[in-house]
Amino acid sequence: MASLTVRQLDDKLKALLRLRAARHGRSMEDEVRVILKAAAEAAGREVLEKFEPPAMAVRRRAPPVAADARRILLIIGGGIAAYKSLDLIRRLQDSGARVRCILTAAAQHFVTPLAAGALAGERAFTDLFDAQSEFDVGHIRLARDTDLVVVAPATADLLAKMAGGHVDDLAGAVLLATDRPILLAPAMNPRMWAAKATQRNLAQLVADGVRVVGPNSGEMAERGEAGLGRMAEPREIAAAAAAMLRVAGPLSGARVLVTSGPTHEPIDPVRFIANRSSGKQGHAIAAAAAAAGADVVLIAGPADLPEPPGIAVVKVETANEMLAAVERALPADVAVFAAAVADWRVERVSRGKIKKQHGEPRALALVENPDILATVAHLKNHRPRLVIGFAAETDDVVANARAKLAKKGCDWILANDVSPETGIMGGDSNTIHLITATSVESWPRQSKDDVARQLIERVAAALRGEKR
Ligand SMILES: Cc1cc2nc3c(=O)[nH]c(=O)nc-3n(C[C@H](O)[C@H](O)[C@H](O)COP(=O)(O)O)c2cc1C
Repeated sequence: MASLTVRQLDDKLKALLRLRAARHGRSMEDEVRVILKAAAEAAGREVLEKFEPPAMAVRRRAPPVAADARRILLIIGGGIAAYKSLDLIRRLQDSGARVRCILTAAAQHFVTPLAAGALAGERAFTDLFDAQSEFDVGHIRLARDTDLVVVAPATADLLAKMAGGHVDDLAGAVLLATDRPILLAPAMNPRMWAAKATQRNLAQLVADGVRVVGPNSGEMAERGEAGLGRMAEPREIAAAAAAMLRVAGPLSGARVLVTSGPTHEPIDPVRFIANRSSGKQGHAIAAAAAAAGADVVLIAGPADLPEPPGIAVVKVETANEMLAAVERALPADVAVFAAAVADWRVERVSRGKIKKQHGEPRALALVENPDILATVAHLKNHRPRLVIGFAAETDDVVANARAKLAKKGCDWILANDVSPETGIMGGDSNTIHLITATSVESWPRQSKDDVARQLIERVAAALRGEKR
């Protein structure tokens, strides 16, 4: 097996790695291990998804959609990134949308209408002059019977056509005829992207009210080509689409940051310190905030829960990683810290698996983790208008939570009794005391979803009050 040492990395990479390692309190080698582990897990997930057993693949092809599901028209352009649009169909469906596809003539050199149609659960449209489609649906209805038009990949050619209002194919006709919002995910060679004509077309489209996601920077499909031009990842496009489709609600226009789940603090490559938090309450709060129209970022420790649709999820493992992710996600209007962050981590994480010793058990030296809630509550710049913490207590719940509110400097504390007999930790219901500087309010035992909804209603009311 080939081996690589940190020393062999180029200087810039080494400097970046050193910074990241210092920030997380790890050695550079340990930092590389964490990065590789995350990358391997992500790649593994992708492989597993691709190799779904046939029965599952069929079930996924036409997922049930609610009668009032939002409708997305996906126009697939003729770029090498078109293969990612097949994944995008599924991601858009995962957020509850009904997806219909149009493929340009060039797109059909990269993916087939059959594959797109099978995944969408409806035949894909390709031809402006196809008499059957024109009688069945018609290009004007295609343009109107949707809530959002997504163009991915948006080729340089499609950008030029749209900017100039050209209608020589079905995609062009629909894009000109639609009065619905349009989201573009450009993808092209970095030089094509940087070309004056492309940038001119893009500026025109943005001025016309079209929204754009990406492109990202990175390796191109062509060997040796790298730079700005890679299509945004399907999950990023799906999140941007979900944000555009979001119904107006009491938190429209507000950015809400939520942390959720436990943290895992490594002891050695195979062991870690954890807690019993399931993440159910934090995830429910993120979902309720999104349903209320907020732009939500969920920073989640290792929780075995599906990602709430339409929400940007940042996955982290340790308290240090969670703090770094929270700092990156600011500014926000509201921050809800529902994660059960480990108070301590092991001072020295062992590089190799610690062996059982005969005689005395080995003692672990612990150091305190950063206090994420207090750090954010005391920020001078970028302190969210409302900082909300959780207090998981087993004794004197309200008294301890009041003391925590004062100590941490946050605005509200949601206190709950996590003694084993309450079944709250990991369970589906919760009993909350909402503690502010001036009041204590005890809510009845209710589902974690209902707690989340009640909290979000209170948050919306508080923001309204502040604006007045
Ligand atoms: C292998 C290959 C890859 C291509 N990749 C891209 C691309 O990523 N982005 C792009 O703008 N054009 C790309 N093109 C060029 C487009 O396919 C070409 O401009 C086509 O006319 C676009 O048609 P459409 O915009 O109607 O889909 C590629 C062409 C080939 C042969």
